[in-house]
Amino acid sequence: MKRINQLVFILSFTAFLSSCGGGNQSENQSETLEATTPMEAATTEIADSVSLSIEGNDAMKFNKAEMTVTTGQIVTLTLKHVGNLPKASMGHNWVLLKPGTDLAEFGVSATTAVDTEYIPQDKLDQVIVHTKVIGGGEQTSITFKAPKPGYYTFICSFPGHWSAMQGSFVVSPA
Ligand code: CO
Repeated sequence: MKRINQLVFILSFTAFLSSCGGGNQSENQSETLEATTPMEAATTEIADSVSLSIEGNDAMKFNKAEMTVTTGQIVTLTLKHVGNLPKASMGHNWVLLKPGTDLAEFGVSATTAVDTEYIPQDKLDQVIVHTKVIGGGEQTSITFKAPKPGYYTFICSFPGHWSAMQGSFVVSPA
């Protein structure tokens, strides 16, 4: 929640600065300098890396609907399948998609991508990062650099799971 507040604050501040246009050049420069001060203060509190974990179960659910990181952080994400069903019938992965991805279209394409961990190879340009598919009792981890600030969506792309297994991945500014 703190990170979201920070994001809202910075966006609001940016809007405020934009609304102050029309001044002469030297005034604009001094406003910009003032604006960096609170952002730098916040940056010192942000860790270089962060570990996240999320669970999938036999009821085709993730245990988290939202995850938040800061842009540029090195994120280690661990996906745990806390159920008992095998990978073939209740497989789970964690796929981070670019904003604007058509989830239904991606999900349908994924159903036939059995040889590539249910990642459709014709839609790789919409995938930021993904884990492999795991079954009950297994876990897997990936490490990646948090992308630019924004609101992203994660899904499980196992056939039929995308609509029930999805959530928000919020990347706040540094
Ligand atoms: Co799944």
